Amino acid sequence: MSNRTLISGGLVVTAADELHADVLIEDGRVAALAAHGSAAAGAWTAGRTIDASGKYVIPGGVDAHTHMELPFGGTSASDTFETGTRAAAWGGTTTIVDFAVQSVGHSLREGLDTWYAKADGNCAVDYAFHMILSDVNEGTLKEMDLLVEEGVTSFKLFMAYPGVFYSDDGRILRAMQRGASNGGLIMMHAENGIAIDVLVEQALARGETDPRHHGEVRKVLLEAEATHRAIQLARVAGSPLYVVHVSAEEAVAELAAARDKGLPVFGETCPQYLFLSTDNLQEPDFQGAKYVCSTPLRPREHQAALWRGLRTNDLQVVSTDHCPFCFRGQKELGRGDFSKIPNGLPGVENRMDLLHQAVVDGHISRRRWIEIACATPARMFGLYPRKGTIAPGSDADIVLYDPHAEQVISAETHHMNVDYSAYEGKRITGRVDTVLSRGELVVDRREYTGRAGHGAFVHRSTCQYL
Ligand code: URP
Ligand code: ZN
Ligand code: ZN
Repeated sequence: MSNRTLISGGLVVTAADELHADVLIEDGRVAALAAHGSAAAGAWTAGRTIDASGKYVIPGGVDAHTHMELPFGGTSASDTFETGTRAAAWGGTTTIVDFAVQSVGHSLREGLDTWYAKADGNCAVDYAFHMILSDVNEGTLKEMDLLVEEGVTSFKLFMAYPGVFYSDDGRILRAMQRGASNGGLIMMHAENGIAIDVLVEQALARGETDPRHHGEVRKVLLEAEATHRAIQLARVAGSPLYVVHVSAEEAVAELAAARDKGLPVFGETCPQYLFLSTDNLQEPDFQGAKYVCSTPLRPREHQAALWRGLRTNDLQVVSTDHCPFCFRGQKELGRGDFSKIPNGLPGVENRMDLLHQAVVDGHISRRRWIEIACATPARMFGLYPRKGTIAPGSDADIVLYDPHAEQVISAETHHMNVDYSAYEGKRITGRVDTVLSRGELVVDRREYTGRAGHGAFVHRSTCQYL
């Protein structure tokens, strides 16, 4: 009985249902749900009872796009696996899928082992890996099969960043063909990086060095073109495709057109594209550097298309692309040359709250909140139903969410290891109260009770969303 926990009196919200139910946890897993006040629930005994009255009881968030400790732009993302997963827990996210990186000239094995070592023993919540393919060749194509068997079942390719992560169309096609045969899901950074680099060079030659020019050279059309091309390459290869960090209305239109043809094409967007815009990139005194990421923030008008895409399921997932760089000493590397600003925004702690605010604001329903932030990322990346739902047999990764609490997002109070917040001063209705990871309390009524090393590597199956 002492290994049993009862969560009593809350509103259980999953992607499928909303139920006034009690949840029984045993040995780190959900054992049963029963209507609150029912004879079945009344008969349960447990060593610990958590009162959830007035709260939502939701699955822990699954953030399928993070970059802890990523070496990038001459520096490294400022959150370690320890600080980043602790911040994730504070924000109600109990699983992250981070990106291991293959460097050019090295094997996938070397890259993956480096990322295992970074994460091992340091995480507060569970984690899995995608693999970034920077060097597609005969050897690495064969290695993809081995990684799929090892539970690393998705591979990110870049049409951007020539000389760093970039792959040409031939390499992309080969990786997609391999994914089609081994079940690995190809994730695409869809921006035409070759054309963008020409525009970067021309802008800098004209003396256009401020952060706002980052947004201007990384044109909407070059995101849309790359998205279209990626879709056609995936069709030729016969592989599904997941496009990451979609920011432009025209890119959503490409995804929607493909989906209307019945193609297995999926899209992810991120809170920064839903809540921020080029107005932020234009902030004076180099403050716009805080908002430099790729794909870039877009004019505010694009947001309506992203919300619509999330409602119509032309976009299926909201991840953070959490890739934090401090303003001081990191973003500042690009003073006088926007192309040297390390690309990326912090956000792993804010996603569940921002999306709850979207429920409050009427953009999405409560169940769709859970679907895009928990259930679908779990399905997309082979973690379901262990993660992403509350059902008998699921890991007891559960958040008690107070839908009425008021908070103001600030770097003063956040737990991410970064010296600014992209959402500084934003008022949110709703706040994480308590977080369990595999039945262990990680946040207990706004007090951190977790520990580095509790989080474990999760072996993923192939995509379950097809
Ligand atoms: O600006 C971004 N998105 N940084 C992280 C790397 C990537 O492309 O996802
Ligand atoms: Zn990317
Ligand atoms: Zn990313």
